[in-house]
Amino acid sequence: MTLVTSKEIVTKALNGHYAVGAFNAVNMETAQAIVGAGIEENSPLIMQVTQTTLNYTDPEELAALMKVLVDRVSIPIALHLDHGRTFEVVMKFLRLGFTSVMIDGSLQPDGKTPRTYEENVEITRKVVEAAHAVGVTVEGELGTLGQIGEEITEKSGALTDPDQAARFVEDTGVDMLAVSIGTTHGLYKGKPFIDVERVKAISEKVGIPLVMHGGSFTPDEDVRAAIRFGIAKVNIDTNIRVAFFEAVRDSIVKIEAEHEKADRAGIPRKYDIRKILEPARTAMQAVIEDRIRVFGSSGKAE
Ligand code: G3H
Ligand code: ZN
Repeated sequence: MTLVTSKEIVTKALNGHYAVGAFNAVNMETAQAIVGAGIEENSPLIMQVTQTTLNYTDPEELAALMKVLVDRVSIPIALHLDHGRTFEVVMKFLRLGFTSVMIDGSLQPDGKTPRTYEENVEITRKVVEAAHAVGVTVEGELGTLGQIGEEITEKSGALTDPDQAARFVEDTGVDMLAVSIGTTHGLYKGKPFIDVERVKAISEKVGIPLVMHGGSFTPDEDVRAAIRFGIAKVNIDTNIRVAFFEAVRDSIVKIEAEHEKADRAGIPRKYDIRKILEPARTAMQAVIEDRIRVFGSSGKAE
């Protein structure tokens, strides 16, 4: 049994100047790829489920699968709710036995409309009280992260303010803080500007581990610099999705060529789902291993 809280592994990462990767699982293959990569790299891991996955699958089924995977290995793994937007959703994941939750109080439950600072503090503090009572880590968010294709700059006013961040941590008691520093979810339109100086300024004021959301396709040199300055958890989802899509496409192209060959020879076509999903799982694991190496957490499983 290696289920740990994310506070435990992320605090070690902050002190050791590396970051723990937090990777999104949506099904068996993604979960296996994540755990497989952690074993290969002998790295601590955060395996996370985002709130929107509830529209896709029953979280109880997914949580049961994730727990079986965690139970079988000896690397430390935290199970984390990513971008929880309501108190009720957080409660659901606490009941499922997750050891870490994010309450994204920066936005309303619609995931678009910003909450005021006071509203963010109110919901975050409520989650902290409930989660800490059962020993679960809480990640809060201050500042608004760029959504897909959106550019976040100083001018847009959505970047995290270091002084406000210090007040937020004091007002809420969160264990980790997601910050807006120029990264965005999904793919970037061009080369992003990542404000690593802001990471340093926030880190010096708050003293707790900081979280980089939108870690996929963020230039490695920026990721490494941000880790040096206080980022101790990096969220990765899009990198995994792209690896999956590309591998599935390549497999289907290959299988269709085999089908045409079979048609010409008058042999019945073969349909095997595993021939599509197995290469996809391998491709996802390779991408995750690569990110783990960039985050510097290889060999840090204890
Ligand atoms: O919460 C999840 C991550 O922030 C995903 O970021 O789209 O860059 O992988 P990504
Ligand atoms: Zn995110």
